[in-house]
Amino acid sequence: MSDLCRDVEIGLSSTPKRLSSKYFYDEIGDKIFQQIMKMPEYYLTDAEAGIFSVHAEVIVGSWDMDTHRPFDLVELGAGDGSKTKILLREVLASSYHVRYVPIDISHNALDGLKKSLASELPDLQVAPLQGEYFSVLSSLSSSDRPKVVLFLGSNLGNMNDDEASSFMNQLGENLRPGDKVLLGLDQIKPKGVVLPAYNDPAGITASFNLNLLRRINRELDADFDLDQFAHRATYTEEEGIARSYLESLVNQSVRIAVLDRVFHFAKGERIHVEISRKYNDKVLENVISTSSLVIRDKFVDSKSYFADYLLVKE
Ligand code: AVJ
Repeated sequence: MSDLCRDVEIGLSSTPKRLSSKYFYDEIGDKIFQQIMKMPEYYLTDAEAGIFSVHAEVIVGSWDMDTHRPFDLVELGAGDGSKTKILLREVLASSYHVRYVPIDISHNALDGLKKSLASELPDLQVAPLQGEYFSVLSSLSSSDRPKVVLFLGSNLGNMNDDEASSFMNQLGENLRPGDKVLLGLDQIKPKGVVLPAYNDPAGITASFNLNLLRRINRELDADFDLDQFAHRATYTEEEGIARSYLESLVNQSVRIAVLDRVFHFAKGERIHVEISRKYNDKVLENVISTSSLVIRDKFVDSKSYFADYLLVKE
């Protein structure tokens, strides 16, 4: 049984129903996410790219790597690597001996990244790894080079605080004293800015989330009618968490042939599909409080919408 199969069965049997956002990223989902990153409402990508453009030299310097000693630059959830390339250019210009290890759950994303790096940065040594964060973390510790781990784009935000905390604990356990983590986190800010990023008028985010049902139709031979579900997004500034749901517009039954099961959806019933946690220093300090990682530095964009934290393994 595939992970998708098991997780869909567990998630749709739960009350309230839920599905994991990690399954958004099939070939179609990757393409829609590229469109999301270009939306005017989705400020996260531009904000982080802005931080790198302005502070690349200081950020790379803050890693405190030795130009004579090879190090691994590991990226969790590399995606298309567009922001990372700003840092990679800086690293190459400063003649470090670096090996770039992009890790992603998506084969497509890694293939695309490998090709674009071969043409744009031909001198860069690249060693991609496909897999989920948790399963590849342990393979990190087998290399004896110093490491800088990039975890950008507020990808940690898809975990709740308990999950994020145990993830950061594990990440720390797989690093050695002096290794660094550059952690990009969207900052808590008013609803008027955050909500449109997850509820754009053009409906790109809606199609991104609904694609999860299309994927289940295709991979698990289900009969979800995408027109009978609608995307809903919520955000409260006090909490700092955006949530996305797929809401059933009618009373309906959906058959999933691979599971040989039928699931019922009441009109108005929601499937919880994603959390996007927003951070501030206090929330981050709490999340890493039981880990061996500490905050050493923080870089923000001109509007302080987004922050890249430099963490050090103690
Ligand atoms: C890639 C997880 C950072 O939560 O902001 C974008 C994914 N979901 N629009 C986010 C996403 C809906 C995104 N991350």
